[in-house]
Amino acid sequence: MIDQETIQRIIDASRIEEVIGDFVSLKKRGANHIGCCPFHNEKTPSFYVSPSKGIFKCFGCGEAGDVVAFLKKHEHFNYPEALRYLAQKYNIEIHEEEQTEEQKERQSERDALFHVSEFAQKYFADLLYNDEMGRAVGLSYFHSRGLSDEVIKNFGLGYCLDEWSNFTDHARKSGYSDAVLEKTGLTIFKEDSGRSYDRFRGRVMFPIYSISGRVLGFSGRVLSSEKQAAKYVNSPDSDIYNKSRILYGLYQARSAIAKANKCYLVEGNIDVISMHQSGVENTVASCGTSLTTEQIRLIKRYTPNVTVLYDGDSAGIKAALRAVNLLFAEGMHVRCVLFPDGEDPDSYAQKYGSAKLQDYLAGHEDNFVMFKTKVLLDGVKNDPIRKAELVKETVQTIALVPDLLERTEYIAQCSHLLDVPEEALSSELAKALNQNRLKAYEERGGQASASTSQQPAAPMDGTGEAAPIDVSASASAATVAQMRLHPAERHLAQLLLNFGDRTLSYTIPADDGSLQEVSYTVAQAIVGDIHSDDLSFSDPLCQKVFDYYSDTLERGDTPDASFFVTADDEALRSFAISLMLETFRISDSWRAKNIFVPTVEDNLQTDLTESLLAFKLKCINDRIADNATRLRKAASDDDITAILEEKRNLVDIRNKLGCALHRVID
Ligand code: CTP
Ligand code: MN
Repeated sequence: MIDQETIQRIIDASRIEEVIGDFVSLKKRGANHIGCCPFHNEKTPSFYVSPSKGIFKCFGCGEAGDVVAFLKKHEHFNYPEALRYLAQKYNIEIHEEEQTEEQKERQSERDALFHVSEFAQKYFADLLYNDEMGRAVGLSYFHSRGLSDEVIKNFGLGYCLDEWSNFTDHARKSGYSDAVLEKTGLTIFKEDSGRSYDRFRGRVMFPIYSISGRVLGFSGRVLSSEKQAAKYVNSPDSDIYNKSRILYGLYQARSAIAKANKCYLVEGNIDVISMHQSGVENTVASCGTSLTTEQIRLIKRYTPNVTVLYDGDSAGIKAALRAVNLLFAEGMHVRCVLFPDGEDPDSYAQKYGSAKLQDYLAGHEDNFVMFKTKVLLDGVKNDPIRKAELVKETVQTIALVPDLLERTEYIAQCSHLLDVPEEALSSELAKALNQNRLKAYEERGGQASASTSQQPAAPMDGTGEAAPIDVSASASAATVAQMRLHPAERHLAQLLLNFGDRTLSYTIPADDGSLQEVSYTVAQAIVGDIHSDDLSFSDPLCQKVFDYYSDTLERGDTPDASFFVTADDEALRSFAISLMLETFRISDSWRAKNIFVPTVEDNLQTDLTESLLAFKLKCINDRIADNATRLRKAASDDDITAILEEKRNLVDIRNKLGCALHRVID
């Protein structure tokens, strides 16, 4: 806790144009400063900073707020982190309130780890340029890899001398304790001999930074090609370094990622640096681990779009396919670029130069269906059994995509590429989806998750026996529970926010039998339809978006999506803004490849009809799940008869909706 007085001092000291100026290049114009908005991609500046009012606003994307809001948005800090950042920038001492002794101790321990890591980074980087061996061995290695002094400095690269304890001795002399040196792993202590030595001796050093630029750990590469030494040695996990939660290069890449609204994922440290040097700055690598969910969430702070770059060898392809599944499961939009066999991004850049690399990236970006089929189809074409396996595997990956519309698009494309009828793929998809839901359901031990608070919890007796008898109904219960945000709900909210004011015309028969043209806005159509069936959303944020449109229309006013941009409810604001920003990019790239995929804009009317049907289908599925729950609890025969009767009706409606949707449900 930072006390109020300090908060005020921090805010008073902060000059918004200076703070933002660290991230955005600003020019003074009259009373304001203007620049290109860091929150969306633009070429002509529409981002305004007003020093006198202490606020910023982008007239392109609508993002606006004060200095703290900027840092929260741009650096993804929370409130105290933003304040600490400002305090550091303006040298204001923070008086923490109510910190326990234990917290203080932990904080100072972590601080010590941060300090020594920063100290080590500076030392290694200094040796690279100012020490004879550093220059002769370390620097010349980096130069031989084609790296410029500019990127070497930008990435803080260094060299650890090839002596037993040169670094450790230096650190001790500068007052760092053995405990701290051991915890960061910079020094290795041998218990038996009592000797200590530098973990990274004789290696070139790649510091690993946090998002805000603090040194957390290192990756050290051998120079010699002798086989017995591991190519890379990494810092062990510590209080400040956790390899599964860190991406190499993210600190240097983060604003480029946000700006390009896209992140390239590569395998190696040198690939990241080489890409950077070639002008593709929005690149990161997972630090010597296979990609983790936490790492994906880090990327997601900046963009939902990831392009996976992998070597054309079989290990690279395997890694890519695994990464793709994980990325999909996190709701990312994924594309892939496959390099020619034997090349990786670094070797390609060094061999052909940055222009060719950029061309290659632009020209070889596939969505994953294309990628997977291209990679795997060759050996499969004339072998029906292996082809069936490929189809199945591809559909299983598609089933991980949370967004219904996106899934549908992938199925269409998969059908085209593999020459398999869409219906067959859809039914395969339905099976895979049910399996996933069932699995999620079972993994929770048959418990409904917290997000179904409106739903009565499934009555489980702990033996697991009550689990799915009626598979489809139980799977639906899991569906609702599992998905924090049902795709149909999300999609309707997205339609409201992005297209709510568009007018649609319908031709309907009038009482006298003649045909009559009527028009509605998309918002009127959605609100009217959902009210007439008396349905509600299970996701509270979707419901709030809907309520705003509904209430505004009821008052006779015109709803305006910009209402959400300044909404006080922060969760609602960011939810709505993300839905407003995130519209169906995948379709665009397909269209560029001359594959016709109808998008919302192409075909708003059809999309609206389908989305409403999908939403109703979801509501019916919820009710069927509820019905199944009650059936298990039912005490008397009369109750059971009534519940079964209700179930027949519900299933009947579901089938009708399903037919209307041309989708296979069971
Ligand atoms: N890696 C690791 N430990 C190893 C080998 C690799 O941690 N023994 C990690 C490193 O982060 C490395 C990445 O895996 O950057 C990719 O490995 P590789 O492709 O072998 O290394 P490159 O970085 O491409 O190295 P170089 O081009 O210098 O051979
Ligand atoms: Mn490499």
